[in-house]
Amino acid sequence: MNGRDIWSNRTAFVLASIGSAIGLGNLWRFPYVCYEFGGGAFLFAYLICLVVAGIPLLMLEFALGKRMDQAAPGAFAAIHSRLEWFGWFAVGVGFIICSYYSAIMSYCVNYFGFSFSLAWGEDPTHFFEREVLDQTNDASQPWQLGSFRWQIFVGLLISWAMILFCVWKGAKTVGKVVWITVLGPWALLLLFVIRGVTLKGAAEGLAFYFTPQWEVLWNFNPSPGEIGAHGLWLAAISQVFFSLTVGFGVMIAYGSFMDDKTCIVRNSWIIGLGDALTAIVGGMAVFGALGHKALVTGKPLQEVVSSGPGLTFATYPEIINGLPYPVFFGILFFLMLSLLAIDSAFSLVEALSTAVRDKFGFSHQKANIIVAVCGLFFGLPYMFGVGIHWLDIVDHFMNFVGLSIVVLGTCLIVGWYKRPSEMRQFINEKSKGQIGVWWDIRIKYFIPAAILYMLGFEIYERVDGPYGEFHSRSQELLFGWGVLLFILVVGLVLAALRKRLPTNPPPS
Ligand code: PHE
Repeated sequence: MNGRDIWSNRTAFVLASIGSAIGLGNLWRFPYVCYEFGGGAFLFAYLICLVVAGIPLLMLEFALGKRMDQAAPGAFAAIHSRLEWFGWFAVGVGFIICSYYSAIMSYCVNYFGFSFSLAWGEDPTHFFEREVLDQTNDASQPWQLGSFRWQIFVGLLISWAMILFCVWKGAKTVGKVVWITVLGPWALLLLFVIRGVTLKGAAEGLAFYFTPQWEVLWNFNPSPGEIGAHGLWLAAISQVFFSLTVGFGVMIAYGSFMDDKTCIVRNSWIIGLGDALTAIVGGMAVFGALGHKALVTGKPLQEVVSSGPGLTFATYPEIINGLPYPVFFGILFFLMLSLLAIDSAFSLVEALSTAVRDKFGFSHQKANIIVAVCGLFFGLPYMFGVGIHWLDIVDHFMNFVGLSIVVLGTCLIVGWYKRPSEMRQFINEKSKGQIGVWWDIRIKYFIPAAILYMLGFEIYERVDGPYGEFHSRSQELLFGWGVLLFILVVGLVLAALRKRLPTNPPPS
């Protein structure tokens, strides 16, 4: 052990990992991606990807951290000294995600404030985007920044202060905070679901959510404007990784704090299924509310609200408006959403600051502050009126491209460079339940092949036409490819910068 913190007990480890997994990914990202990709078809693909790829990769990350006793860059460097940059690239993708994640947290904080007076009004549909849409609807002027929104900036400062507060003392504080940030929100969520599904007209929304359109799942030759199978499966698999916090080095760092008796296999299943259940149950509230909205406005379901990052902030206030004590439930709901987000955000900060600490020997506090200040800085673009569109582009590139590359690389390194059977043996030693050779096959062949195929198609699509509302090459170059290149370069520089601190060799 290189003087690492260890979780105070095993439940703290499971809760912290669940806390990292369950967050805005479940209640903010899942519903809008699901809505965008056809409801039931997406849900079906999501479940398949969870079992086939998500949970096996979660096992892999825990095992890698535990075995190498290092955060991601150190763990990859322990496999081969030339691979350290790859670990930095993984936490870099997570860091960029964290910088916009905290911007969404700022919306939660702001909505928490709005709840006191129900400031979103009778029709919350576009409250989130109203200013942005007014300012930027004109596609001929894509570079209009919109005003700097101080209110959201203040929310961002509050979010980072809360994150820092939670990670201040490392694994020991994390283990305690998660009791409140994981278990509290769950009870409240159930209440919202009950309200969401009992709204008038909810049935139509739920039918859209639960009925898969099978043809979309293998529509590999979509006509323009249609949802294609490649995009759908890539959206599903990257949502699984995003939501489980797999592919960012977070679970590698958390695995490195694990004690010797923690069962990797069982806990991965608990975390994976707990996370999916939260997303699916939360989705019921959102789709119930959408159904209700369709009934009230007389519009078809797919046209009720514009999809995209604003969806959740449009539908939940709708539910809150329909509750008996809206102010009370509004405050509770946005408090819950902020709590859910905090432990996901601090897991990334923890993973990155552990990596910085492992490499440079900084104190935990110093490493945390460096990460937080950088995170705050990178969150600034989203404070502008146009920020939500940039956020959409960054989110797309980080998840569809960056995350796919990390997971692909991890599978290739563990599956081909190291022997997966060796890793499986290690997992089985650390688990009561055992995994069989199917695990090797997924890590070695299935997951890389599937990702390679989908990634290839995604890149082809991006070359064909730029992503985003404005269809602007320059924005895509800057916020998509540019950011990816930036993380890559920073990773290479950090890996080359200075020799790693001496650590214990990995156990053989
Ligand atoms: N898993 C988190 C969620 O579902 C998202 C996240 C991804 C957070 C990567 C940090 C880093 O909300």
